[in-house]
Amino acid sequence: MKIAMIVAMDEEDNIGNGNNLPWKLSSDLKRFKLLTEADGFNAVIMGRKTWDSLPEQYRPLPDRLNIVMSRDTNWEHEDAEVALYHGRAIEIAYADGCDECWIIGGAQIYELFLDRVEEIHLTKVHTTGSGEVKFPNWDRTNWEEELIEVIDDNEDDEFTTSYSIWRRKI
Ligand SMILES: NC(=O)c1ccc[n+]([C@@H]2O[C@H](COP(=O)([O-])OP(=O)(O)OC[C@H]3O[C@@H](n4cnc5c(N)ncnc54)[C@H](OP(=O)(O)O)[C@@H]3O)[C@@H](O)[C@H]2O)c1
Repeated sequence: MKIAMIVAMDEEDNIGNGNNLPWKLSSDLKRFKLLTEADGFNAVIMGRKTWDSLPEQYRPLPDRLNIVMSRDTNWEHEDAEVALYHGRAIEIAYADGCDECWIIGGAQIYELFLDRVEEIHLTKVHTTGSGEVKFPNWDRTNWEEELIEVIDDNEDDEFTTSYSIWRRKI
């Protein structure tokens, strides 16, 4: 089972503003859906705060197994699986026969999995000062970037973005 991370961050590694995404980027949301759904049956792993931040009409994220990480043993939701520790989240995805498992944030959950993924799908948003929630410290020297696509700002994308795949060097 492939385990990969997907994140959008600005030029200062900011990923969130309060409990929201700071930007309006239609092309990035479409890519997120395409990648995380793919052809098979995939899981998305997220923190409880990111789950809370999803508008009710968009959760659970459709056609994917939604796994929410919480330390609260009373947390439950009929549309999501709950995991109290990272290994449990992977175990649930594996036991359900998922082809891919996507770590979709937020900051605490990225930090938890950063050493455990081989691939990071990163959308760099070409702006600064987007919010106070930051991606964890990440030593990029052990990683290689493959730039896939640059999309200029347009009526559906507030800022220019660059989409890259980062792979851990062997
Ligand atoms: N730009 C992006 O790509 C992107 C993607 C996703 C989210 N975001 C942004 O990120 C922000 C949210 O990030 P965040 O760091 O505040 O919250 P988060 O990572 O979404 O969720 C944090 C919660 O996860 C649970 N948790 C954390 N570590 C755990 C562990 N080791 N074991 C079990 N459960 C654990 C805890 O839930 P309990 O409190 O219930 O115990 C904790 O409060 C928002 O601004 C959101 O919009 C950005």
